[in-house]
This record gives sequence, structure tokens and C-alpha cells, in this order.
Amino acid sequence: MPAAQCAVVIFGASGDLSQLKLVPAIYELMREGLLSDRAVLVGYARSSTKKDGTPLNDQTYRNDCYEAIKKNARHKPIDETLWKKMQENIFYVSGAYDGADDHARLASLLSRLDKTHDTGGNRLFYISTPPDAFEGIITRLGERVKAKGGDGPGGWQRLIIEKPFGRDLASALHLNDVLHQNWEEKNIFRIDHYLGKEALQNMMVMRFANSIFEPIWNYKYIDHVQITVSETLSSDDRAGYYDKSGAMRDMIQNHIFQLMALVAMEPPVALDATSIRDEKVKVYRSIRPIRPEQFDAFCIRGQYGAGEYLNKDKKVPTGGYTKAKGVAPGSMTETFAAIKLYIDNWRWSGTPFYIRTGKCLARKLSEVTVRFRSPPLTLFQKQTSAAVYPNDLIIRVQPEEGISWRLNAKVPGGQLNIKSVALEFLYKTAFHVEPPEAYERLIHDAMVGDQTLFIRGDEAEAAWQVIDPIESYWARSKTPPQEYKPGTWGPQKAMDLIEKDGRRWIQNEDDEAEPIIACSL
Ligand code: BG6
Repeated sequence: MPAAQCAVVIFGASGDLSQLKLVPAIYELMREGLLSDRAVLVGYARSSTKKDGTPLNDQTYRNDCYEAIKKNARHKPIDETLWKKMQENIFYVSGAYDGADDHARLASLLSRLDKTHDTGGNRLFYISTPPDAFEGIITRLGERVKAKGGDGPGGWQRLIIEKPFGRDLASALHLNDVLHQNWEEKNIFRIDHYLGKEALQNMMVMRFANSIFEPIWNYKYIDHVQITVSETLSSDDRAGYYDKSGAMRDMIQNHIFQLMALVAMEPPVALDATSIRDEKVKVYRSIRPIRPEQFDAFCIRGQYGAGEYLNKDKKVPTGGYTKAKGVAPGSMTETFAAIKLYIDNWRWSGTPFYIRTGKCLARKLSEVTVRFRSPPLTLFQKQTSAAVYPNDLIIRVQPEEGISWRLNAKVPGGQLNIKSVALEFLYKTAFHVEPPEAYERLIHDAMVGDQTLFIRGDEAEAAWQVIDPIESYWARSKTPPQEYKPGTWGPQKAMDLIEKDGRRWIQNEDDEAEPIIACSL
């Protein structure tokens, strides 16, 4: 269904995200017929010239958008007829993010576009700037929303805010306060692009549209859950942002917690935004606080040292995290984090959730592994001393989105030998389509006012409540993050975290394939 006509205003229009993801996503929506013919795109940024001195204006911004789409759209080559239509609806405003006069200029452009392009007074503001600009933009835009008396017959006004939503609980509370001064929660869309990924959306369908999962989805049958989000790239090019953030704030508080919440939540009473988000908040609130004496054992931080990492199949050298431009000397920012959590509710009583993420690791991978308890072995134990493998349900977010279920099967032949085999479901082969980019789905949802795949204010706060004590412990700790070699699975302590419990990380590449268990007849 195409969204209603509107003006999409991107703050931070010259930034990487806008060029890599947002503008191409808007083009793809138009290609799919999901955008109104009367949608316009307004880029807003501080710069009035490009790095080479070329002035930035409607025309040069259109050229930049063209290049961005040509390079980053999902469907290539670019549809020139479509682009001709699209470019007439692209505009550029340069101004300070909190400048009253600049916002007034933006407002008058938008009113003009209502008349010339019939945008109907509908506005989707997308804040994709560095976080220090959030407050100024929210306040300036909010003043106009309030002056207009909120949504009226003159159209709706919605706000998408990129991460990071705060850097701790106090700053998230403050940002929510600033927002709520002028904006109603129903018009606030805190984005986490992981929620736009097909595999995450499928998680609820898998759990709640199949009757086989619910009876076994609990501590009685599940031994533990592992979540690995590993990246091969370094943070060398984004040091300015990353050094103030680190793996815990950059990945765990948002993307990985969303994954965890979808695995752990109770069935919502309905499939609407309120019911689903209520259940996710309950998961965060049920996380057992880590006691001070447990921090070192439950929360591991690492930092990559010198070596080589993989960038698109090519090995690239790095001098190590602290050697990158923009990293504070002696920085203790973690480029890797692994934690063990318990969700203290009836369903998950005593079931550990192991989480890890990092830069410069062995492979790019986002996966949830649900490991079931081993079967009672009475039958096979008489014949083999080796344990029969437990079953794993592996939900792969990327690459190769899909689900893999590892079961035990008999190896053909006269003997009763057992091997772990996989039942595989791959989106690509099952549906013969490539899943859309997360940002396409999310921008369209915001245009139609569906908040289901966005984070509610209290949800962000509840997630920070879990992270804050770990961050403050690390800030106080004199022990630096453990160094790891780029291209590996992170520091040794992360292995110890799980191995101490008699378990292991399942995805480590250096693991041998499961051997055959020989059972003599
Ligand atoms: C971003 C983080 O939110 O997500 C990045 O800031 C990270 O550091 C990226 O690389 C990962 O996203 P994806 O979709 O490639 O897994």
C-alpha cells in the first residue's frame, strides 16, 4: 500500500547513513510503488559547500542522491525514468541544526511544497545527525509542532530518531523529556535498524504461528541461548563516534537486546505496537542485576590489537584500536563485549543468555542459537560413552537469513552411528526473493504511522537500566580490556565466560564439524 503524500526531511543529509541507506531506501520504496507520487525529499545539513568547495544546493544535492542510489540501491542499474521523476522532488537546505532562522526557512519551504507538490502538510523528519545535534533539532521542530497544536487537519508530523538514544539512563531520560515537551509519543519513532531486518520480524511468526515451539520454549527444554553479532570491519574510520561509545553501547544496548527480547518475550495479547512493546519491556525488567562481585566473571571487554582484518574478502592491516586517528591515547573503549545474563521470570528461570559482539572478528555474522537440553540417554548410553549432541535451533539474521535446526540422525550403514545434521530454511531459496533493506521497511512504517518496529521511550530506558551498572563498573575499573588479535573470535576471557559453565560458543570457525558418534551394536 503506498504511503500518504508527505515531505521527508533528512537532518544529516550529507552524512554516511543518508547516502548509504536512507536515500537508496526512498528510491527503492518509490520503485516498489510504496511511496506516494506526491512525496518529496528535503536534505538538511550544516554544510553549504562540499569538501571541494562546490556549493551545495538543490541541484548538487540531487547529483549526490543520484550517485548514492547508483552505488547503493538494491536494484541496479538505476531506473532512469523513475529517477527523472524523483529528482524533481528533491530539495536541499543548509542551516544550523538548532538555528531558529534556518528552521524558519525550512518551514517556509515545506509550506511552499504543500502548495506546489501537494504534500498535504504531512512531515516525516528523520534525525540522522551526530547525537549532540539531536536536542536542538527536536526542540526547534517541536516548537512548530506545538504552535500548530499537534496533528490537525493540516497533516501529521512524525519524527524518526537514529541511535544512539542517549549514552546512559540519565541521558535517555533527558532526551525523552525533551521529546515529550512538544511531541506526543505516537509521533516519535526511535529507530533500531535491526528491527527492520526480515529475520527479526520472522522471529515472532516462527514462535507464535507454529504450535511446536511454545511448549518447549522455556527453561525445561532449553539449556541456554547464545547471541553472536560479529563484524569483520574495524572501527578505525569511525573513531570519533566509536571511542565515546564502545561495543556495549553501540550494539548490545540496542540491536542485540532487541534480538534477545524477541527470543525471550511472552506472547503479546495482540500484534499491535503497544502489546508487543509491553512484552519487550517486561523482558528487560526481568533481567537479573549483576552483583558487584560478578562483574569480572559475567562481563568481558576486549580491544583489538595490531594485525589484519577482513574488508570485503581483502585483508587490511590495522595498527590496533588505540592507534587509529581520533582515539584517545590509552583509550579503554571496548571493541568487543561478551556478557552472561539471566532473565528472572517463570519461563527462563536459570537459563543463561550468552551475548557477544565485536569488531575485527573472524566473520560477519548475526545469529541466535537456542540450545536445547540433551536427550535422556538411556537408549544410546549403553552403547557409547560419548554424549549425543543436543539440538540447536539457529536463527540466522545475516548473512543468508534463515533458520537451521540441528537434529541427530543415523548414519546409513550396518552400525548405529549418529551424526548431527541440519534442516535448513533459507529465505533466498524458499521465497526466491531478496529481503528488502531494513530501512525501506522502517521508513515506510513511519510514513503509515506503524510504531511496532520502533522503540518506545520506556523500552530504551529499561535497556539502559541493564547496561548502566556494567558501564559504570568498567569506567571505574583499572583493568584494561583484554587485547585480541584481529581476525579471531575475540579475547580468551570470552571463551572462558562460557567454557567455565561447560558450554562453548557454537559459531567459532576453528571448531571442527561435529564428529560421528560411533555406537557399537
Ligand atoms: C550500527 C553500528 O548501528 O550497526 C555499527 O553503529 C555496526 O557499528 C552496524 O557496524 C551493524 O549493522 P549491520 O546491519 O551491518 O549488522
